[in-house]
Amino acid sequence: MRKPVIAGNWKMYKLIADSVATVLALKPLVANANHCEVVVAPVFTAIKTVTDRLEGSNIHVAGQDCSTESKHGAHTGEVAADMLRDAGASHVIVGHSERRHLYHESDSFVNRKAQAGLAAGLTVIMCVGETLEQREGGMAERVVRGQLEGGLRDLTASDLDRIIIAYEPVWAIGTGRTATPEQAQEMHAFVRRVFAGRFSQEAASRLRILYGGSVKPDNIAGLMKQADVDGALVGGASLDAETFARIVHYDR
Ligand code: PGA
Repeated sequence: MRKPVIAGNWKMYKLIADSVATVLALKPLVANANHCEVVVAPVFTAIKTVTDRLEGSNIHVAGQDCSTESKHGAHTGEVAADMLRDAGASHVIVGHSERRHLYHESDSFVNRKAQAGLAAGLTVIMCVGETLEQREGGMAERVVRGQLEGGLRDLTASDLDRIIIAYEPVWAIGTGRTATPEQAQEMHAFVRRVFAGRFSQEAASRLRILYGGSVKPDNIAGLMKQADVDGALVGGASLDAETFARIVHYDR
């Protein structure tokens, strides 16, 4: 059985004090959430303080991004994956659509970040997803296949248990317009088929595929009922501990 993952992506929100207050509020609310893995992704500057305050809890911490470079060196502004690990993170998000669209990250760039994250021992949450224009042009599957094939290039069988895919249709992110459970299921099944073709059926049956895009307490249950939806990557609704905890405790 695939253990679901409910991950909160805080994006560029919250100073350290607010990040700590949020996880301290979240901790008791999800302490008994054994049905899933709970992850939060604060900004880089808050990671160390947050992980220190979460010592011994079941909440994992993710970086929202990492450098393509593993070797420490002259890369002003970059944060290496092993630095995230050093600060206490166990996961890293790569290829979020905001990185792809606002900062022009290509599939091969995302692939290098994934490799860097894996090499540092992190679990990598790789985001894929089409824009509205691509969906309306009948291109959704072709786009997502390209992102998967490019992003997963050169990964080996031993890496696969530390890869999580987040399908996040760009048109659903921050818009309040969620994919329907059926739309999500259709694309998640497609992601699993592509993964099976690239690696193996066995690896694909273990792959966790998260849905992201306007996930809220009132739509999570319908999404989680789908056979190939193994969790959620939550943006806006993860900023408030109580709301995020309601998503973690979706109706099962
Ligand atoms: P949202 O963001 O839940 O605010 O739509 C999701 C994401 O960007 O990961």
